[in-house]
Amino acid sequence: DEDPRMYGIKSKIRVVPDFPKPGIMFQDITTLLLDPKAFKDTVDLFVERYKDRNISVVAGIEARGFIFGPPIALAIGAKFVPLRKPGKLPGEVISEDYVLEYGKDCLQMHVGAVQPQERALVVDDLIATGGTLCAAMNLLECVGAEVVECACVIELPDLKGRERLKGKPLYVLVESH
Ligand code: PRP
Repeated sequence: DEDPRMYGIKSKIRVVPDFPKPGIMFQDITTLLLDPKAFKDTVDLFVERYKDRNISVVAGIEARGFIFGPPIALAIGAKFVPLRKPGKLPGEVISEDYVLEYGKDCLQMHVGAVQPQERALVVDDLIATGGTLCAAMNLLECVGAEVVECACVIELPDLKGRERLKGKPLYVLVESH
């Protein structure tokens, strides 16, 4: 019952062992982007899911959420808001720190980009521990927006990142074990 496009998408994701450090199986979506059919199928699957959900804002996470988020936003008639690493956004920002496997990081969003009561979709390429998506949701909820769902191309289900999303739904196209 799986959409036949899913297998084509999965087959275009390159897994690179020991990148960027030993023991990490890097999920490389640049090979998916090289295939116009697989790239379009990826965007289309999200668009079909979200087009009638009254979503007013797509929030994309730096860096690879900036690849998949904008075409989805344009197709569903929503605005696009970049959630960036510290020091990149020139206006007034709100910040959310989060813990990584080694060390910590931070996401920022422009104040005024999202209004209270807006309906938001959060987009990234991959969920691992879920820390990044959790920080993104916190930014949106902090300004009073409603996070409708998080959407990723790839999930690493063994890391149980889904459990960190405070019950918010997560939709993924491909699981990688
Ligand atoms: C990757 C990925 C997600 C995040 C997921 O980004 O693109 O944004 O990790 O990890 P998590 O679920 O454990 O939080 P990365 O840290 O490589 O940053 P980059 O996109 O700026 O290269």
